[in-house]
Amino acid sequence: MAEIFKQSNLVSQLQRREFLNSSGAVVWLTGLSGSGKSTIGALLERTLIESGRNAFLLDGDNLRFGINAGLGFSKEDRSENIRRISHVASLMAQSTCVAIVSAISPFAADRDAARKVCEDAGIAFIEVFVDTSLEECARRDVKGLYKKAFSGEIAEFTGVSSPYEEPENPELVIKTAEMSPEKAVERIIEYIRLVDSLRTVCVRMYNAAVMAGKRILEIYNSGFDVEYKADSSPLTAADLASNEVICKALKEGYPDFALLSEETVDDKIRRKNPFCFVVDPLDGTKEFVKRNGEFTVNIALTAYGKSVAGVVYVPVTDEVYYAAKGCGAFVAKGEQSPDFSQDKRIRVSSKTEGLTVMASRSHADEKLLAILEKNKDKIADTVSVGSSLKGCRIAQGRADVYYRTGLTCEWDTAAMQCVVEQAGGVFRQLDSTPMVYNRENTLNEKGFYILNRIENKFDF
Ligand code: ADX
Repeated sequence: MAEIFKQSNLVSQLQRREFLNSSGAVVWLTGLSGSGKSTIGALLERTLIESGRNAFLLDGDNLRFGINAGLGFSKEDRSENIRRISHVASLMAQSTCVAIVSAISPFAADRDAARKVCEDAGIAFIEVFVDTSLEECARRDVKGLYKKAFSGEIAEFTGVSSPYEEPENPELVIKTAEMSPEKAVERIIEYIRLVDSLRTVCVRMYNAAVMAGKRILEIYNSGFDVEYKADSSPLTAADLASNEVICKALKEGYPDFALLSEETVDDKIRRKNPFCFVVDPLDGTKEFVKRNGEFTVNIALTAYGKSVAGVVYVPVTDEVYYAAKGCGAFVAKGEQSPDFSQDKRIRVSSKTEGLTVMASRSHADEKLLAILEKNKDKIADTVSVGSSLKGCRIAQGRADVYYRTGLTCEWDTAAMQCVVEQAGGVFRQLDSTPMVYNRENTLNEKGFYILNRIENKFDF
C-alpha cells in the first residue's frame, strides 16, 4: 500500500472530546442468538439518548442488510463481519458517540481483534458477555431459528452446529436469568461513567504517586531503619509515609471506591465493591534498602477485577508511567502534568526475534531458568531492572518479554498490567489465564508473563 498515505485531522481526539464535552466508547454485546443482546442494546441506546448522550446501536442482524450484505455464517465470513463492525464502531466512538454493538461474535480471536482496533485508536472497549444458556435461548426461540437449526434446516448455527467461545475476561457479565434488562443497562451505564472518569482518576493517582515519591525520597536521602515483616520482607518508614499520602489522596477523591494496599490492614469488604484501588506504596523495598534507585510507587484502579488505570512512579529518576483504559499508556516526568495526547502514547515493540528479556534482580528459580534455557534461540539480550519497571520497559518498547515464576502480590502487578495492556502488550498468568484483581487471596500464586506480542509466548 505504498501509494496510500495517512492524513491527519486538524482536531485531535482530546480536543474533540473537550470541545464537544463528550467522549465515545464501544460497548460490545456478545452472546448466543436470542440471549438478549438486542433487547439490552436497544434499551441502552434509548436510555443514553434520553440522558442527552449520543449513542447508536449497531445490530448484527441489521448490518447484514447493508454493510455486511453478502456475508454468511462460515468462520471466515463471521470474522469479516466482526472486523467491519469493529472499524465502524471505533470510528463512531472516535466521533464521541457510544457505539453499541450487538452481534453474536462467537470467536474469541475476532473479539480480541475488535478490541485491538478500538484500543489502538484510543477508544475504550467494553466487552459485555450476555450470558444466557443455550437451553434458555432455544426455549425462547424468538425467531424460530433454533427449531430449524436442530432439525438441520439451518447449517452452522451458533451453539448448535457452530461453536460459541465464551469470553474469558470480559469487562462485564450479564446473566439474564438473574438480571432484568433495566438492571443490565444500569450496570453498563455505571461502567461507561467509570470509563468517562478515568482520565481524572488517573490524574489523581499520578499526583498521589508523585507526592508519595517525594516523601520517600526525603527518607531515602536522610537515612532510615529497616524492620522485617512476618514474611521477612523489609519495611521502612518510607513505606508507611508513602502509604499515608496515597490513601488520603485516593479516599478524598473517591470515597466510594474500595482500597487494597500492601501497608494497610486488608478490609475484605473491598470484595463487595466492583471498583477497588490496588496500591503498593513502595515496590522494591529491597532495592530501596540496597539504594540502587529502582524502586517504584504503584497505584492501580481495578473494575470488576480488571486493571483499568495504572501509575508507576520512579522517585529517583522522576519518571511516571501512567495508563488508563480508553486513553493509552504514557511516560512523563513527575514535575510535568499528565498529558493524554494520542501522539504521545508509548507502545510495545513489534519484534518477533532477537528478543530482549527482562530479568529480575533478586528472583530466579529453576523453573524460570528452564524456561529461558528452552527458548534461548529467541533471546538476544537479557537486562535486569527492579520492581514494576520491568513491565514499564516492555510497554515502552525497550524490552520485549518478561517471565515471572515466583510469587508476587496483586499490588506488585496491577498498575504495570494496565501500562502494558494500554501499550498494546500482553499480560497473563503463567497458565495463560487472565489475571483478575480484588481477590480473596491477594497472592499471585500462578506467576505471570508479559509479552510485546502474543506470538512471542515461550514454550515450556
Ligand atoms: S456473527 O456470528 O457474525 O456475529 P451476527 O450477530 O452478525 O452473527 O448475526 C446473527 C444473527 O443472524 C442471528 O441472531 C440470527 O438471527 C441470524 N442467523 C442466521 N443464520 C445463522 C447462523 N447459522 N448462526 C447464527 N445466527 C444466524
